[in-house]
Amino acid sequence: MTKRKVLVTGGAGFIGGNFVQYMMDKYSNYEIYNLDLLTYAGDLTKHRSIESKTNYHFVKADITDREAIISLFEKEKFDYVVHFAAESHVDRSITDPGIFVRTNVLGTQVLLDAAKQIDIDKFVHVSTDEVYGELDFKPTTFFTENTPLEPNSPYSASKASSDLLVRSYHETFGLPVNITRCSNNYGPYHFPEKLIPLTISRLLNDEKVPVYGDGQNIRDWLHVIDHCAAIDLVLHEGASGEVYNIGGHNEKTNLEVVKTIISALGKSEELIEFVEDRLGHDKRYAIDPTKLEKLGWKPTYNFDTGIAQTIDWYLQNKEWWEQIISGDYQEYFDEQYKFNKSSI
Ligand code: NAD
Ligand code: DAU
Repeated sequence: MTKRKVLVTGGAGFIGGNFVQYMMDKYSNYEIYNLDLLTYAGDLTKHRSIESKTNYHFVKADITDREAIISLFEKEKFDYVVHFAAESHVDRSITDPGIFVRTNVLGTQVLLDAAKQIDIDKFVHVSTDEVYGELDFKPTTFFTENTPLEPNSPYSASKASSDLLVRSYHETFGLPVNITRCSNNYGPYHFPEKLIPLTISRLLNDEKVPVYGDGQNIRDWLHVIDHCAAIDLVLHEGASGEVYNIGGHNEKTNLEVVKTIISALGKSEELIEFVEDRLGHDKRYAIDPTKLEKLGWKPTYNFDTGIAQTIDWYLQNKEWWEQIISGDYQEYFDEQYKFNKSSI
């Protein structure tokens, strides 16, 4: 079996963390390097079962630290880079856009420069469907790879900017790249600032769940393991320079998602609290994954099986999320939802 060195950036976060585990399970012949700054969103406790393995390595570094990144690439000569590291929460990008530009745009450019110096086989840039902006509520419209980029939040604008840089390094320097644009993920180790883990963790503590606006905005949910399998496929089989959309046709209104979790946990719908809407709140996302399906991908979870497994995981792993929500997170929560502090 061919040996390969794989750099995963952001491997201490939600999706990158699941991807590191997925690759460690699947490719015993690969050396996996997890590079992460360990911001508020990163934690290494999720990797306890692999941390002593000889083919797993952790590197604490900031992707915007040009010197450190260039010298790491020169030393390790990676075959593959899978780039997840980012600021990922839309609400935080509304309060503090600057760090999104720094990490998501500048950080990506530093990685591209580093990859350009060595003979890399593939650079997969993990992007998002949010770069396409929003769809209306017509169930027949979908994002394809040819949908124009019309990002609406500072988060999605920073991701769209990084996508364009990745594209330009392919066109100008011939760097072998792919860009993936996935819909909303859910599953184990999802940080409890995002809708699904926020809802589960608050309901388990019998606390109110904040729903923005009227709760009718639609997201297209995909289990994180199906996202990992798609990235694995694109890494090995994706045609260089191509963009691949990832999604499994699981469209739900936010209210439907919250009510599904309430019902699964046997809680009362009175715990729903409608709060002020998110600024610039995108109405609907929905992915057309035909191009990726033609490459051989299909999801293994539908929303019913995936959400049941996820709720069960949060029930079994209280220690993980309780430790998160007891720290700095509480300050973030109070600030973010301050307009409804008395009721929430
Ligand atoms: P996350 O916030 O859970 O994890 C991000 C990770 O990046 C953390 O471990 C953090 O410590 C690390 N990081 C942040 N800044 C860094 C820096 N300067 N240097 C090194 N590491 C840094 O994010 P996620 O939800 O796992 O998303 C991962 C990627 O997937 C992002 O690029 C995001 O845009 C994309 N994406 C997310 C979703 C989703 O639903 N969560 C969907 C589609 C695409
Ligand atoms: O579509 C992919 C994107 O999905 C990723 O690129 C982002 O990194 C990821 O965070 C996610 O973005 P969203 O903004 O869609 O996810 P979030 O969980 O923050 O919100 C999902 C929906 O739920 C959205 O319509 C806003 C709503 N919401 C969210 C929170 C946190 C609420 O109603 N109440 C809340 O408290």
